Amino acid sequence: KIHQNSEEASFYVANEIAELIRQRQKSGKNAVLGLATGSTPTKVYEFLVKFHKEEGLSFKNVITFNLDEYYPMAADSIHSYVRFMGEHLFDHIDIKKSNIHIPDGTLEKEDVKDYCRAYEQKILKAGGLDIQVLGIGRTGHIGFNEPGSTLSSKTRLVRLDRVTKLDAASDFFGLENVPSRAITMGVGTILSAKRIILMAWGEGKSDIINQAVEGPVRESVPATFLQHHDNCDFILDEAAASAL
Ligand code: GLP
Repeated sequence: KIHQNSEEASFYVANEIAELIRQRQKSGKNAVLGLATGSTPTKVYEFLVKFHKEEGLSFKNVITFNLDEYYPMAADSIHSYVRFMGEHLFDHIDIKKSNIHIPDGTLEKEDVKDYCRAYEQKILKAGGLDIQVLGIGRTGHIGFNEPGSTLSSKTRLVRLDRVTKLDAASDFFGLENVPSRAITMGVGTILSAKRIILMAWGEGKSDIINQAVEGPVRESVPATFLQHHDNCDFILDEAAASAL
């Protein structure tokens, strides 16, 4: 779905999320959201905060699972996704703290495996992801599923691609400060969502969007696995769609 600009596109996505939350509220049920970080979804979160403040949209029935977190990463670091999500969304809405799940970057290495297994279990126990929101990295990664990630991969500790680290270098004030690893939901975890919305803005994403949408499904471009999902939309601005 191609929108004129990222503002319009983000409004469209925020409305779909808000509609799910309201519908579930009517029937006394939870809405389970899979959330992403990065610059791409920030406007969606801005709109959701606006709907909360101006229209009274409540998040009391919302359970969230974030895609990923750098490892190791202290929760209060300016680079942590915990901090990012607080600043962009959670600190401004009425979500219950106990309903927020973000992979824990502070774990001891030997505890990571069990933690990842438990993360998957929590998603299942919540009823599965209703909507998974995604951005896309230059390598074609979704979450931090870098090239080589398999279709059935689950939440796990991964090594970041050099291109991904280069893209994060300015945020971290230098390549040497970018963590080499991350905990991420797997491709299989993402594909288990009932609905997937991948967003991309700007010409810099046009080549990888072209590969993801029109290229053959392959491990070297993990976003191509989304072609297997029957309820996945790519929401693009005109620039990101320009190579299609
Ligand atoms: C990071 C995140 C991804 C995100 C990607 C793109 O690698 N882990 O989930 O999709 O960045 O970032 P941006 O939206 O800033 O282009």
